[in-house]
Amino acid sequence: MNSRLSFAEMLDHHPGQSASGLADKALRQACALLEADAGVLYLLRHDPDGEYLVHAGSFPTAGQTGASIPSDRPSIATIAAQTGSTLKFDDATTPDALATINTAVDLPSGFVAGAIAGFPLTNHAKVIVGVLVLATELGSGRSFSQAPLELFVRFCRLAGAAVERADLLEQINQIRLDPGARNDRLRQQVEKLAFIEEIEGVRGDDAFRLAISMLARAAEIYDEGTGNHVFRVNEYSHFLGKTLGQDAKYCHQLRFSAQLHDVGKMGVAPSVLRKTSALNPDERREMDNHTIYGHRILSQSPRLAMAADIALNHHEKWDGSGYPSGKRADEIPLSARIVQIADIYDALRSERPYKPALEHEQARHIILHGDARIDSAGHFDPTLVEVFADTHQSFNQIWQNLQEA
Ligand SMILES: [Fe+2]
Ligand SMILES: [Fe+2]
Repeated sequence: MNSRLSFAEMLDHHPGQSASGLADKALRQACALLEADAGVLYLLRHDPDGEYLVHAGSFPTAGQTGASIPSDRPSIATIAAQTGSTLKFDDATTPDALATINTAVDLPSGFVAGAIAGFPLTNHAKVIVGVLVLATELGSGRSFSQAPLELFVRFCRLAGAAVERADLLEQINQIRLDPGARNDRLRQQVEKLAFIEEIEGVRGDDAFRLAISMLARAAEIYDEGTGNHVFRVNEYSHFLGKTLGQDAKYCHQLRFSAQLHDVGKMGVAPSVLRKTSALNPDERREMDNHTIYGHRILSQSPRLAMAADIALNHHEKWDGSGYPSGKRADEIPLSARIVQIADIYDALRSERPYKPALEHEQARHIILHGDARIDSAGHFDPTLVEVFADTHQSFNQIWQNLQEA
């Protein structure tokens, strides 16, 4: 868990941090995020003769020198840097992969890859500033096919921007110390840095949002395995908020907060969370406490106030028969009432170990009229049920768009 989140800390300001120190950190974090066993990081440099890649770090063998590129033959690193796209081989032993991988460039010395992938590193202006190559060990059975690559692209942007900034500062200091350096070269680099500082205003926010998505995803993996459940719940909730006429700020907050509704499940003992038979009363209480645990985690940050509200209240019911507090009607925050309907619609549509997936029509029917387990009138906010009745096709659309990969 910690390794999944501590990359946000890597992006904090470390004025004295060297580019190679940051590159090492970025590599370690990237390996932890994608469960890779090894990696190399290159920075893209430009000079009057063209572009080239400079080795900035290797993991786990930090001392490996790494080749600067161009080299005599192509590599995953050069291709990813030149095309700006991710290049991935889930089996690094196929003839295709072997023809592309340049072991001297793409891997720490002596490492034998089972799967390998190259990721361009960009700054916030989406300019390529380097490249990251990650690999799993041959025989580990792990590849990058299940990896949350969409989120990882954002990690690459944050890491790229941080490393680029540190690298520029180092270059500027070097030019300063060189009495023969031309002033226009120094000016050029300082201007570039000023530009980066300017667009970096968004950096903190981006890092925060990324950390939150990762937290939501980690909670989901801990709970029910990988999936897009939390992202779909964001979208249904955002849609409901908009349809209700809530303002853009509220809807934005809702979209971002909904995904954290079950974060508290990370506080529930795995023996209870994963139990397939019926829970005894103590175990049931522990399970229900995920609302309280979630609130405890999220109320630490004022920026997560809505998420904390949702986590605490998403199992309260309109008639007061829910938990943990038995709040009723308007006592339950609107955000939680919205997420509840979104969460339940998605749970009905999803296959779980104890139940099959339902078609849209069946899920719609249960939300509007209830079934053996759900008493619609007692459970949901009647206004929201009405809105759902009018707009249910949009829910189906969101489900279709964000199906599991
Ligand atoms: Fe929950
Ligand atoms: Fe959920």
